[in-house]
Amino acid sequence: MALERAGWICGACSSGFPVIGEIPWLFPEPRQALADWRGRLGMLSQHLASEAAAMLSATAGKEAGQATRRRLEHVAAAYDDQVRRLAALLAPLGLDQSGMSEATHRGIGTRLPLEQGLTNYYVNLQRDWAWGEEENAAGLGEIVAVLGGDARGLGRTLVQGAGAGRLAYDLHQRGDAPLTVATDFNPLLLFVAREMFAGRSLELYEFPIAPRNVEDHAVLRRLSSPSAGRAGLELMAADALQAPFADAAFDTVVTPWFVDIIGEPFARVAARVNLLLKPGGRWINSGSLSFSRAAHADRIGLEEALEIMPHAGFTDVRVREGTLPYMRSPASRHSRLESVVTWVARKSGPAAELPRARVLPDWLLQPDRPVPRTRAFEMQAISSRVHAFLLAMINGERSMRDMARMLVEQRLMSADEAEAQVSLFLTRLHEDSENQ
Ligand SMILES: C[S@@+](CC[C@H](N)C(=O)[O-])C[C@H]1O[C@@H](n2cnc3c(N)ncnc32)[C@H](O)[C@@H]1O
Repeated sequence: MALERAGWICGACSSGFPVIGEIPWLFPEPRQALADWRGRLGMLSQHLASEAAAMLSATAGKEAGQATRRRLEHVAAAYDDQVRRLAALLAPLGLDQSGMSEATHRGIGTRLPLEQGLTNYYVNLQRDWAWGEEENAAGLGEIVAVLGGDARGLGRTLVQGAGAGRLAYDLHQRGDAPLTVATDFNPLLLFVAREMFAGRSLELYEFPIAPRNVEDHAVLRRLSSPSAGRAGLELMAADALQAPFADAAFDTVVTPWFVDIIGEPFARVAARVNLLLKPGGRWINSGSLSFSRAAHADRIGLEEALEIMPHAGFTDVRVREGTLPYMRSPASRHSRLESVVTWVARKSGPAAELPRARVLPDWLLQPDRPVPRTRAFEMQAISSRVHAFLLAMINGERSMRDMARMLVEQRLMSADEAEAQVSLFLTRLHEDSENQ
C-alpha cells in the first residue's frame, strides 16, 4: 500500500481507499462501509434524542418522585449532550449527508445500534481509558507472562479487533516493536483510539448497567492515555474477515477477546491468522473462549482449540489460564470475574485448509445487474406485505374483532383462529413498544 493524495492505493491491484478521520479506511467496499456506519450513527443519534425526549415527558407524570425526576432530567441531559459529543467525534463519517429517519433505518435493516452497532463495545472504551489501570494491567500481565516476562521482540505486530486500542498501545509502549497496527471495523472505537494514541483526551458519557445512585446513571468521563504512543503505533479501519494485508506481513498477530466473537469457526480464524504471519511468526491470543452463539460443533473449549492448532499450522503452544477482573465500572454494582485463556503459538507451516474468501454474487457487486427474486426474497416480501397489512389495519377506530374479520375476508386465515392471532400480534407489538 502507498499513501497518495486521495488516500491509499493498493500496490497489487491499484484499488483506492480513503482516509476517514485520519485513519486509513481499508474496507473492500469503502463507500458501502461508510454508508453502513453513517447509518448506524444516524440511528443511534435519533434513538438517544428520542429517548431523552421520552424521559423528559415522563417527568411530567404525577407519580414521578423527586429522585426519579432528578434521574430522568440528569440522563435526558446526558443523552442530548452525548449526541453532540458523538456528532463532533464522528463528524468524518458525514452524518449531515444522510437524510434517513429512524423508521427508515429500521425498515431497511440498519441493525439496532444498542445491540450490534457503534456502541456494541462502548464499555471497553471506558475500561481502556477512564477507569484506571487495574484491568488493563491485569490483561497485559497475562500476555507478558505467557511470553516469559518480556514484551520485547514481537517485531511487526498486528492487533485484530483492537477495539479502543489500549492493549495495542500497552504492548507497543512496553515492547520494542518497530510497527504495531491496531485494526477494528468500528469507527467510534478507532476515533477514540486515535485521540488516545496522540496523547489527547476527550469526554464521553458512561451509562453503567447497574448504577449505584442517581448521578451514576450517566457519568461524564474523561478518557486519556498515559502519554502519546511511541512512533510506529498505527490505526487502520478494516474487516478482519477481509483483511487488507499481504500474506506473511507480520511477525506477531494478537487476537484479544476476538476469536469467539468473530462469527467464524475457530479453525478458519486460526488459518486466517496463519496467513498473516511470517514463517516462525507468533500468534498471541487472549480472552474468553465462549462461543455461545456459534453452531453446536463450533462451541469449542480449550482442549478442542489445542487439538485444532497443529492443523492450522501452529506448534509450541504455551497456555496460561488466569482469573481476571472484567468490566468493573466504579459507578456500577455489576462486575465480572473472567477465567481468561492466553496462549502464544509459533507458525510451523501453512494451515491444512485455507480460509475461504467471502464471495458475493455479481448482482451485489455490479449496481446495474438485475437482482434475482429468490425463494427466500419472495417469502420475505410476502411476509412483509402481511405485516404491513396488519399494521395498516390499526387506524384508531377498528377493534380486534373488526381486524380479525378483515383477515378472514382477505383469506389470510380462518375465522376460528383470526381473533386469537390478532390478539397475539397486537400484544407483541404493544410489548415491543414498551420495551424499546
Ligand atoms: C470483544 S471486543 C474486544 C475488543 C478489544 N480487543 C478488547 O479486548 O477490549 C471485539 C472487537 O472486535 C471488533 N470486531 C468484531 N468483528 C470484527 C470484524 N469482522 N473486523 C474487525 N473488527 C471486528 C469489534 O468492533 C470489537 O472492538
